[in-house]
Amino acid sequence: MGRLAILGALHEEIADLLAAMDPGAETRRIAMRDFQVGTLWGTPCVIALSRIGKVAAAATASIVIQEFGVSRVLFTGLAGGLHPQVRVGDVVVADALMQHDMDARPLFGRHEIPLLGRERFDADAALSALLLDSARDFAAKGGLPGAAAQPRVHHGLIATGDIFVNDNDLAHDLRQRLPDALCLEMEGAAMAQVCHEFGVPFAVMRVISDSADHAAKTDFTDFLVNLARLYTAGILKPLLQS
Ligand code: ADE
Repeated sequence: MGRLAILGALHEEIADLLAAMDPGAETRRIAMRDFQVGTLWGTPCVIALSRIGKVAAAATASIVIQEFGVSRVLFTGLAGGLHPQVRVGDVVVADALMQHDMDARPLFGRHEIPLLGRERFDADAALSALLLDSARDFAAKGGLPGAAAQPRVHHGLIATGDIFVNDNDLAHDLRQRLPDALCLEMEGAAMAQVCHEFGVPFAVMRVISDSADHAAKTDFTDFLVNLARLYTAGILKPLLQS
């Protein structure tokens, strides 16, 4: 199967995975990032902190593909809910990703990636199906200890841009423009573009930390500090062990 890359934008989003790596993992430092190479719950992995944003995600994806020869790339972390059906605590697995801030009009269509002739990048169906199964099992067991409601698991479009959306008007505009987008984040579609260009399968799993509204900064920070790590391990451990 080859080595799996697991990427996250902030330390809290991958901290539990780094801590759970089997003994013997090694660190390689490339382009101001640490890449932890070893096995996680028996699966050969390289785990890295990309940092936030599209450029950081694209650089990190290129490195794991070119330097570590990974066979699949998984990006995980938090996202702001956009679709009315998506609530804080839910899990979203991408079926495709797009860059909501790409706008090279009038040279190219709105959201079109110039010279690639496409707006969307499809996630790998097999890896996404494993993530969905594992997320549904996690949700069926009640999700987080003490959680008020069972999280729901969604499969659909994730929209990426270099904007932390903390503004009701911008969220409203994005909802109108992208009615099928489930959530917003800042890395997935950039990693997806790089993987597409290299022909490497990829998937994205996000947990909803906020509603991309005026309270997003506070909600995001609370979720990041208190809850993010419980989801990642809760969903990925059974998947990697299977
Ligand atoms: N990631 C988590 N919440 C987000 C938001 N509101 N906007 C962009 N990325 C996010």
